[in-house]
Amino acid sequence: MGGGEISRFLGLSCAALLSAALVVGSAIGAPQAGRTGVHEGVASCAGSTCHGRPVASGVVVRQNELITWQDPSSAAGAHSRAFRALTSDRGRSIAAKMGIGPAQNAAVCLGCHADPAPAAARGAKFQLSDGVGCESCHGGSGGWIASHYAVGATHADNVARGLRPLDNPKARAAVCLDCHYGGKGQGQFVTHQMMAAGHPRVAFELDLFTSLQRHHDVDADYVSRKSSPGGVKVWAVGQAMAVDRAASLYADPARARAGAFPEFYFFDCHSCHRAISDDPRIRPRKEANPARPIPVGAPPFNDENMIMLSAAARTAAPGLAARFEADSRAFHAAIAGDRAGAVRAAGQLAATSRALADTFAARGFRRAETLDILDAVLSGETARRYTDYAGGAQAVMAVDTLVGALAAEGQIDRAAAARIRPELDRAYAAVRDPNAFRPDEFRQVMARIAQAARAMR
Ligand code: HEC
Ligand code: HEC
Ligand code: HEC
Ligand code: HEC
Repeated sequence: MGGGEISRFLGLSCAALLSAALVVGSAIGAPQAGRTGVHEGVASCAGSTCHGRPVASGVVVRQNELITWQDPSSAAGAHSRAFRALTSDRGRSIAAKMGIGPAQNAAVCLGCHADPAPAAARGAKFQLSDGVGCESCHGGSGGWIASHYAVGATHADNVARGLRPLDNPKARAAVCLDCHYGGKGQGQFVTHQMMAAGHPRVAFELDLFTSLQRHHDVDADYVSRKSSPGGVKVWAVGQAMAVDRAASLYADPARARAGAFPEFYFFDCHSCHRAISDDPRIRPRKEANPARPIPVGAPPFNDENMIMLSAAARTAAPGLAARFEADSRAFHAAIAGDRAGAVRAAGQLAATSRALADTFAARGFRRAETLDILDAVLSGETARRYTDYAGGAQAVMAVDTLVGALAAEGQIDRAAAARIRPELDRAYAAVRDPNAFRPDEFRQVMARIAQAARAMR
């Protein structure tokens, strides 16, 4: 059978499936008692008439999502490789240094490198070795797997049965951050100890990372079924949710400490990991940062998302911007004081960040506003805050996302976006090696992009 024939055959069986759903609509439509929230396993989604087609030929959704999730050659397939990472040389070496036994059995790793469903919520086909499977993001399918493709089933019906509304940027951010920053769930936190044992740094930006693992099309049909927040909204909400997450986990006694020390994961890595020299002519690597009123010698809280959020708030939530600025300064300062005060300040910062997430989620972003945010990320007060690698790397992802969103919405022409590309490549190069980050040089690259961006107005 040739490829065309296969897809025709598959198309047929899918139609047959759909009409079966129509005929016994009420039986299939009823939620199966007791299965809501059960993770049925990737094999349950992978049928050749479901999401396992060889090509994206589905009428409503692509139906080849499995192939994308498994793509061995790109970031899009990373989640299917997550479990295997634990048995790789690097995974084994991390586990050996930590003395936790085989990583593939260690709860402290599995919370992010496999579907974190609790044992009681695993169906017959569930396998830990599937890694970060479909239901790790979309939610346990027990309550909706039989009904979600029935004719007439709506997104709201599916969500009521346990499908996560990932089209909603707040819901999506909450899911991704559990693993791409850390969460309160079991095994969902990369400690400094893990990093010292060789775990890579965890970098994240919601819109960019969504694009990197995209296996869906936002077409007219999608928009009629779901919300389709643009890239700028997804970016802005993602930043607010990330600050909320960092401040909330820092305030959580279960995450905040490692023995007698604070948990170093929350702080800027290179504030501690710098070379020391006794040479009297040495120029210290540390630069004063106007937005972080902390004593010399104190490690600063990693502020990459606070910087972005501050740039977004000035344009898109001016009523909250001053409060956010004050809360983030107060939080940095409070860490040098006692723990109770730092926890109070973290709670305040988290609350303001949630208010910002709500504000961004409820509004649209016009062309002029996106250009204002882009300018704020690239220059002025914000540029002075790029004293550390993490903030610089986050800024480059922001510029990529904002320029990409302007181009995708047709708000700048493709030629203008293409002219920025070589500068953006230089910006990525400036943050390639964390140990070689040079704030001055980085600001120069950003200033050139700012100039090119102003020319687009
Ligand atoms: C909070 C979630 C989380 C936890 C807990 C976690 N990891 Fe990871 N791990 C990640 C993420 C996210 C990445 C990808 C980082 C990136 O590239 O942005 C990763 C990457 C890795 C990689 C590199 C994979 C590659 O393809 O190069 C290895 C190896 C690894 N983790 C092993 C471990 C081990 C061993 C443990 C337990 C000691 C562990 N991880 C715990 C989230 C986690
Ligand atoms: C890392 C998280 C993640 C994983 C893993 C994942 N998805 Fe998705 N998926 C998303 C996001 C985010 C979207 C876009 C938002 C939305 O429409 O839900 C999406 C969209 C989709 C869509 C399009 C929905 C529509 O209404 O058009 C389908 C179908 C889908 N995913 C199926 C799968 C299947 C099948 C798997 C496993 C093979 C899978 N996904 C794995 C996050 C994930
Ligand atoms: C259950 C944990 C988990 C969840 C939830 C999760 N991820 Fe991941 N993600 C990982 C791990 C672990 C890796 C690294 C896998 C590896 O490289 O072996 C990863 C890798 C990635 C990569 C590839 C990064 C790279 O540098 O190659 C992208 C992109 C990504 N995730 C996007 C997302 C997005 C977007 C969401 C939310 C819609 C999400 N992830 C939700 C655990 C998770
Ligand atoms: C408050 C200070 C501090 C911060 C912040 C900090 N570290 Fe460390 N780090 C240390 C100390 C102390 C050690 C132990 C050094 C030793 O054993 O010789 C260490 C060890 C390490 C090691 C092992 C180095 C080696 O040569 O064996 C790595 C890797 C590492 N840290 C990565 C990170 C990363 C990534 C971050 C940011 C997420 C970070 N650190 C943040 C203080 C810090």
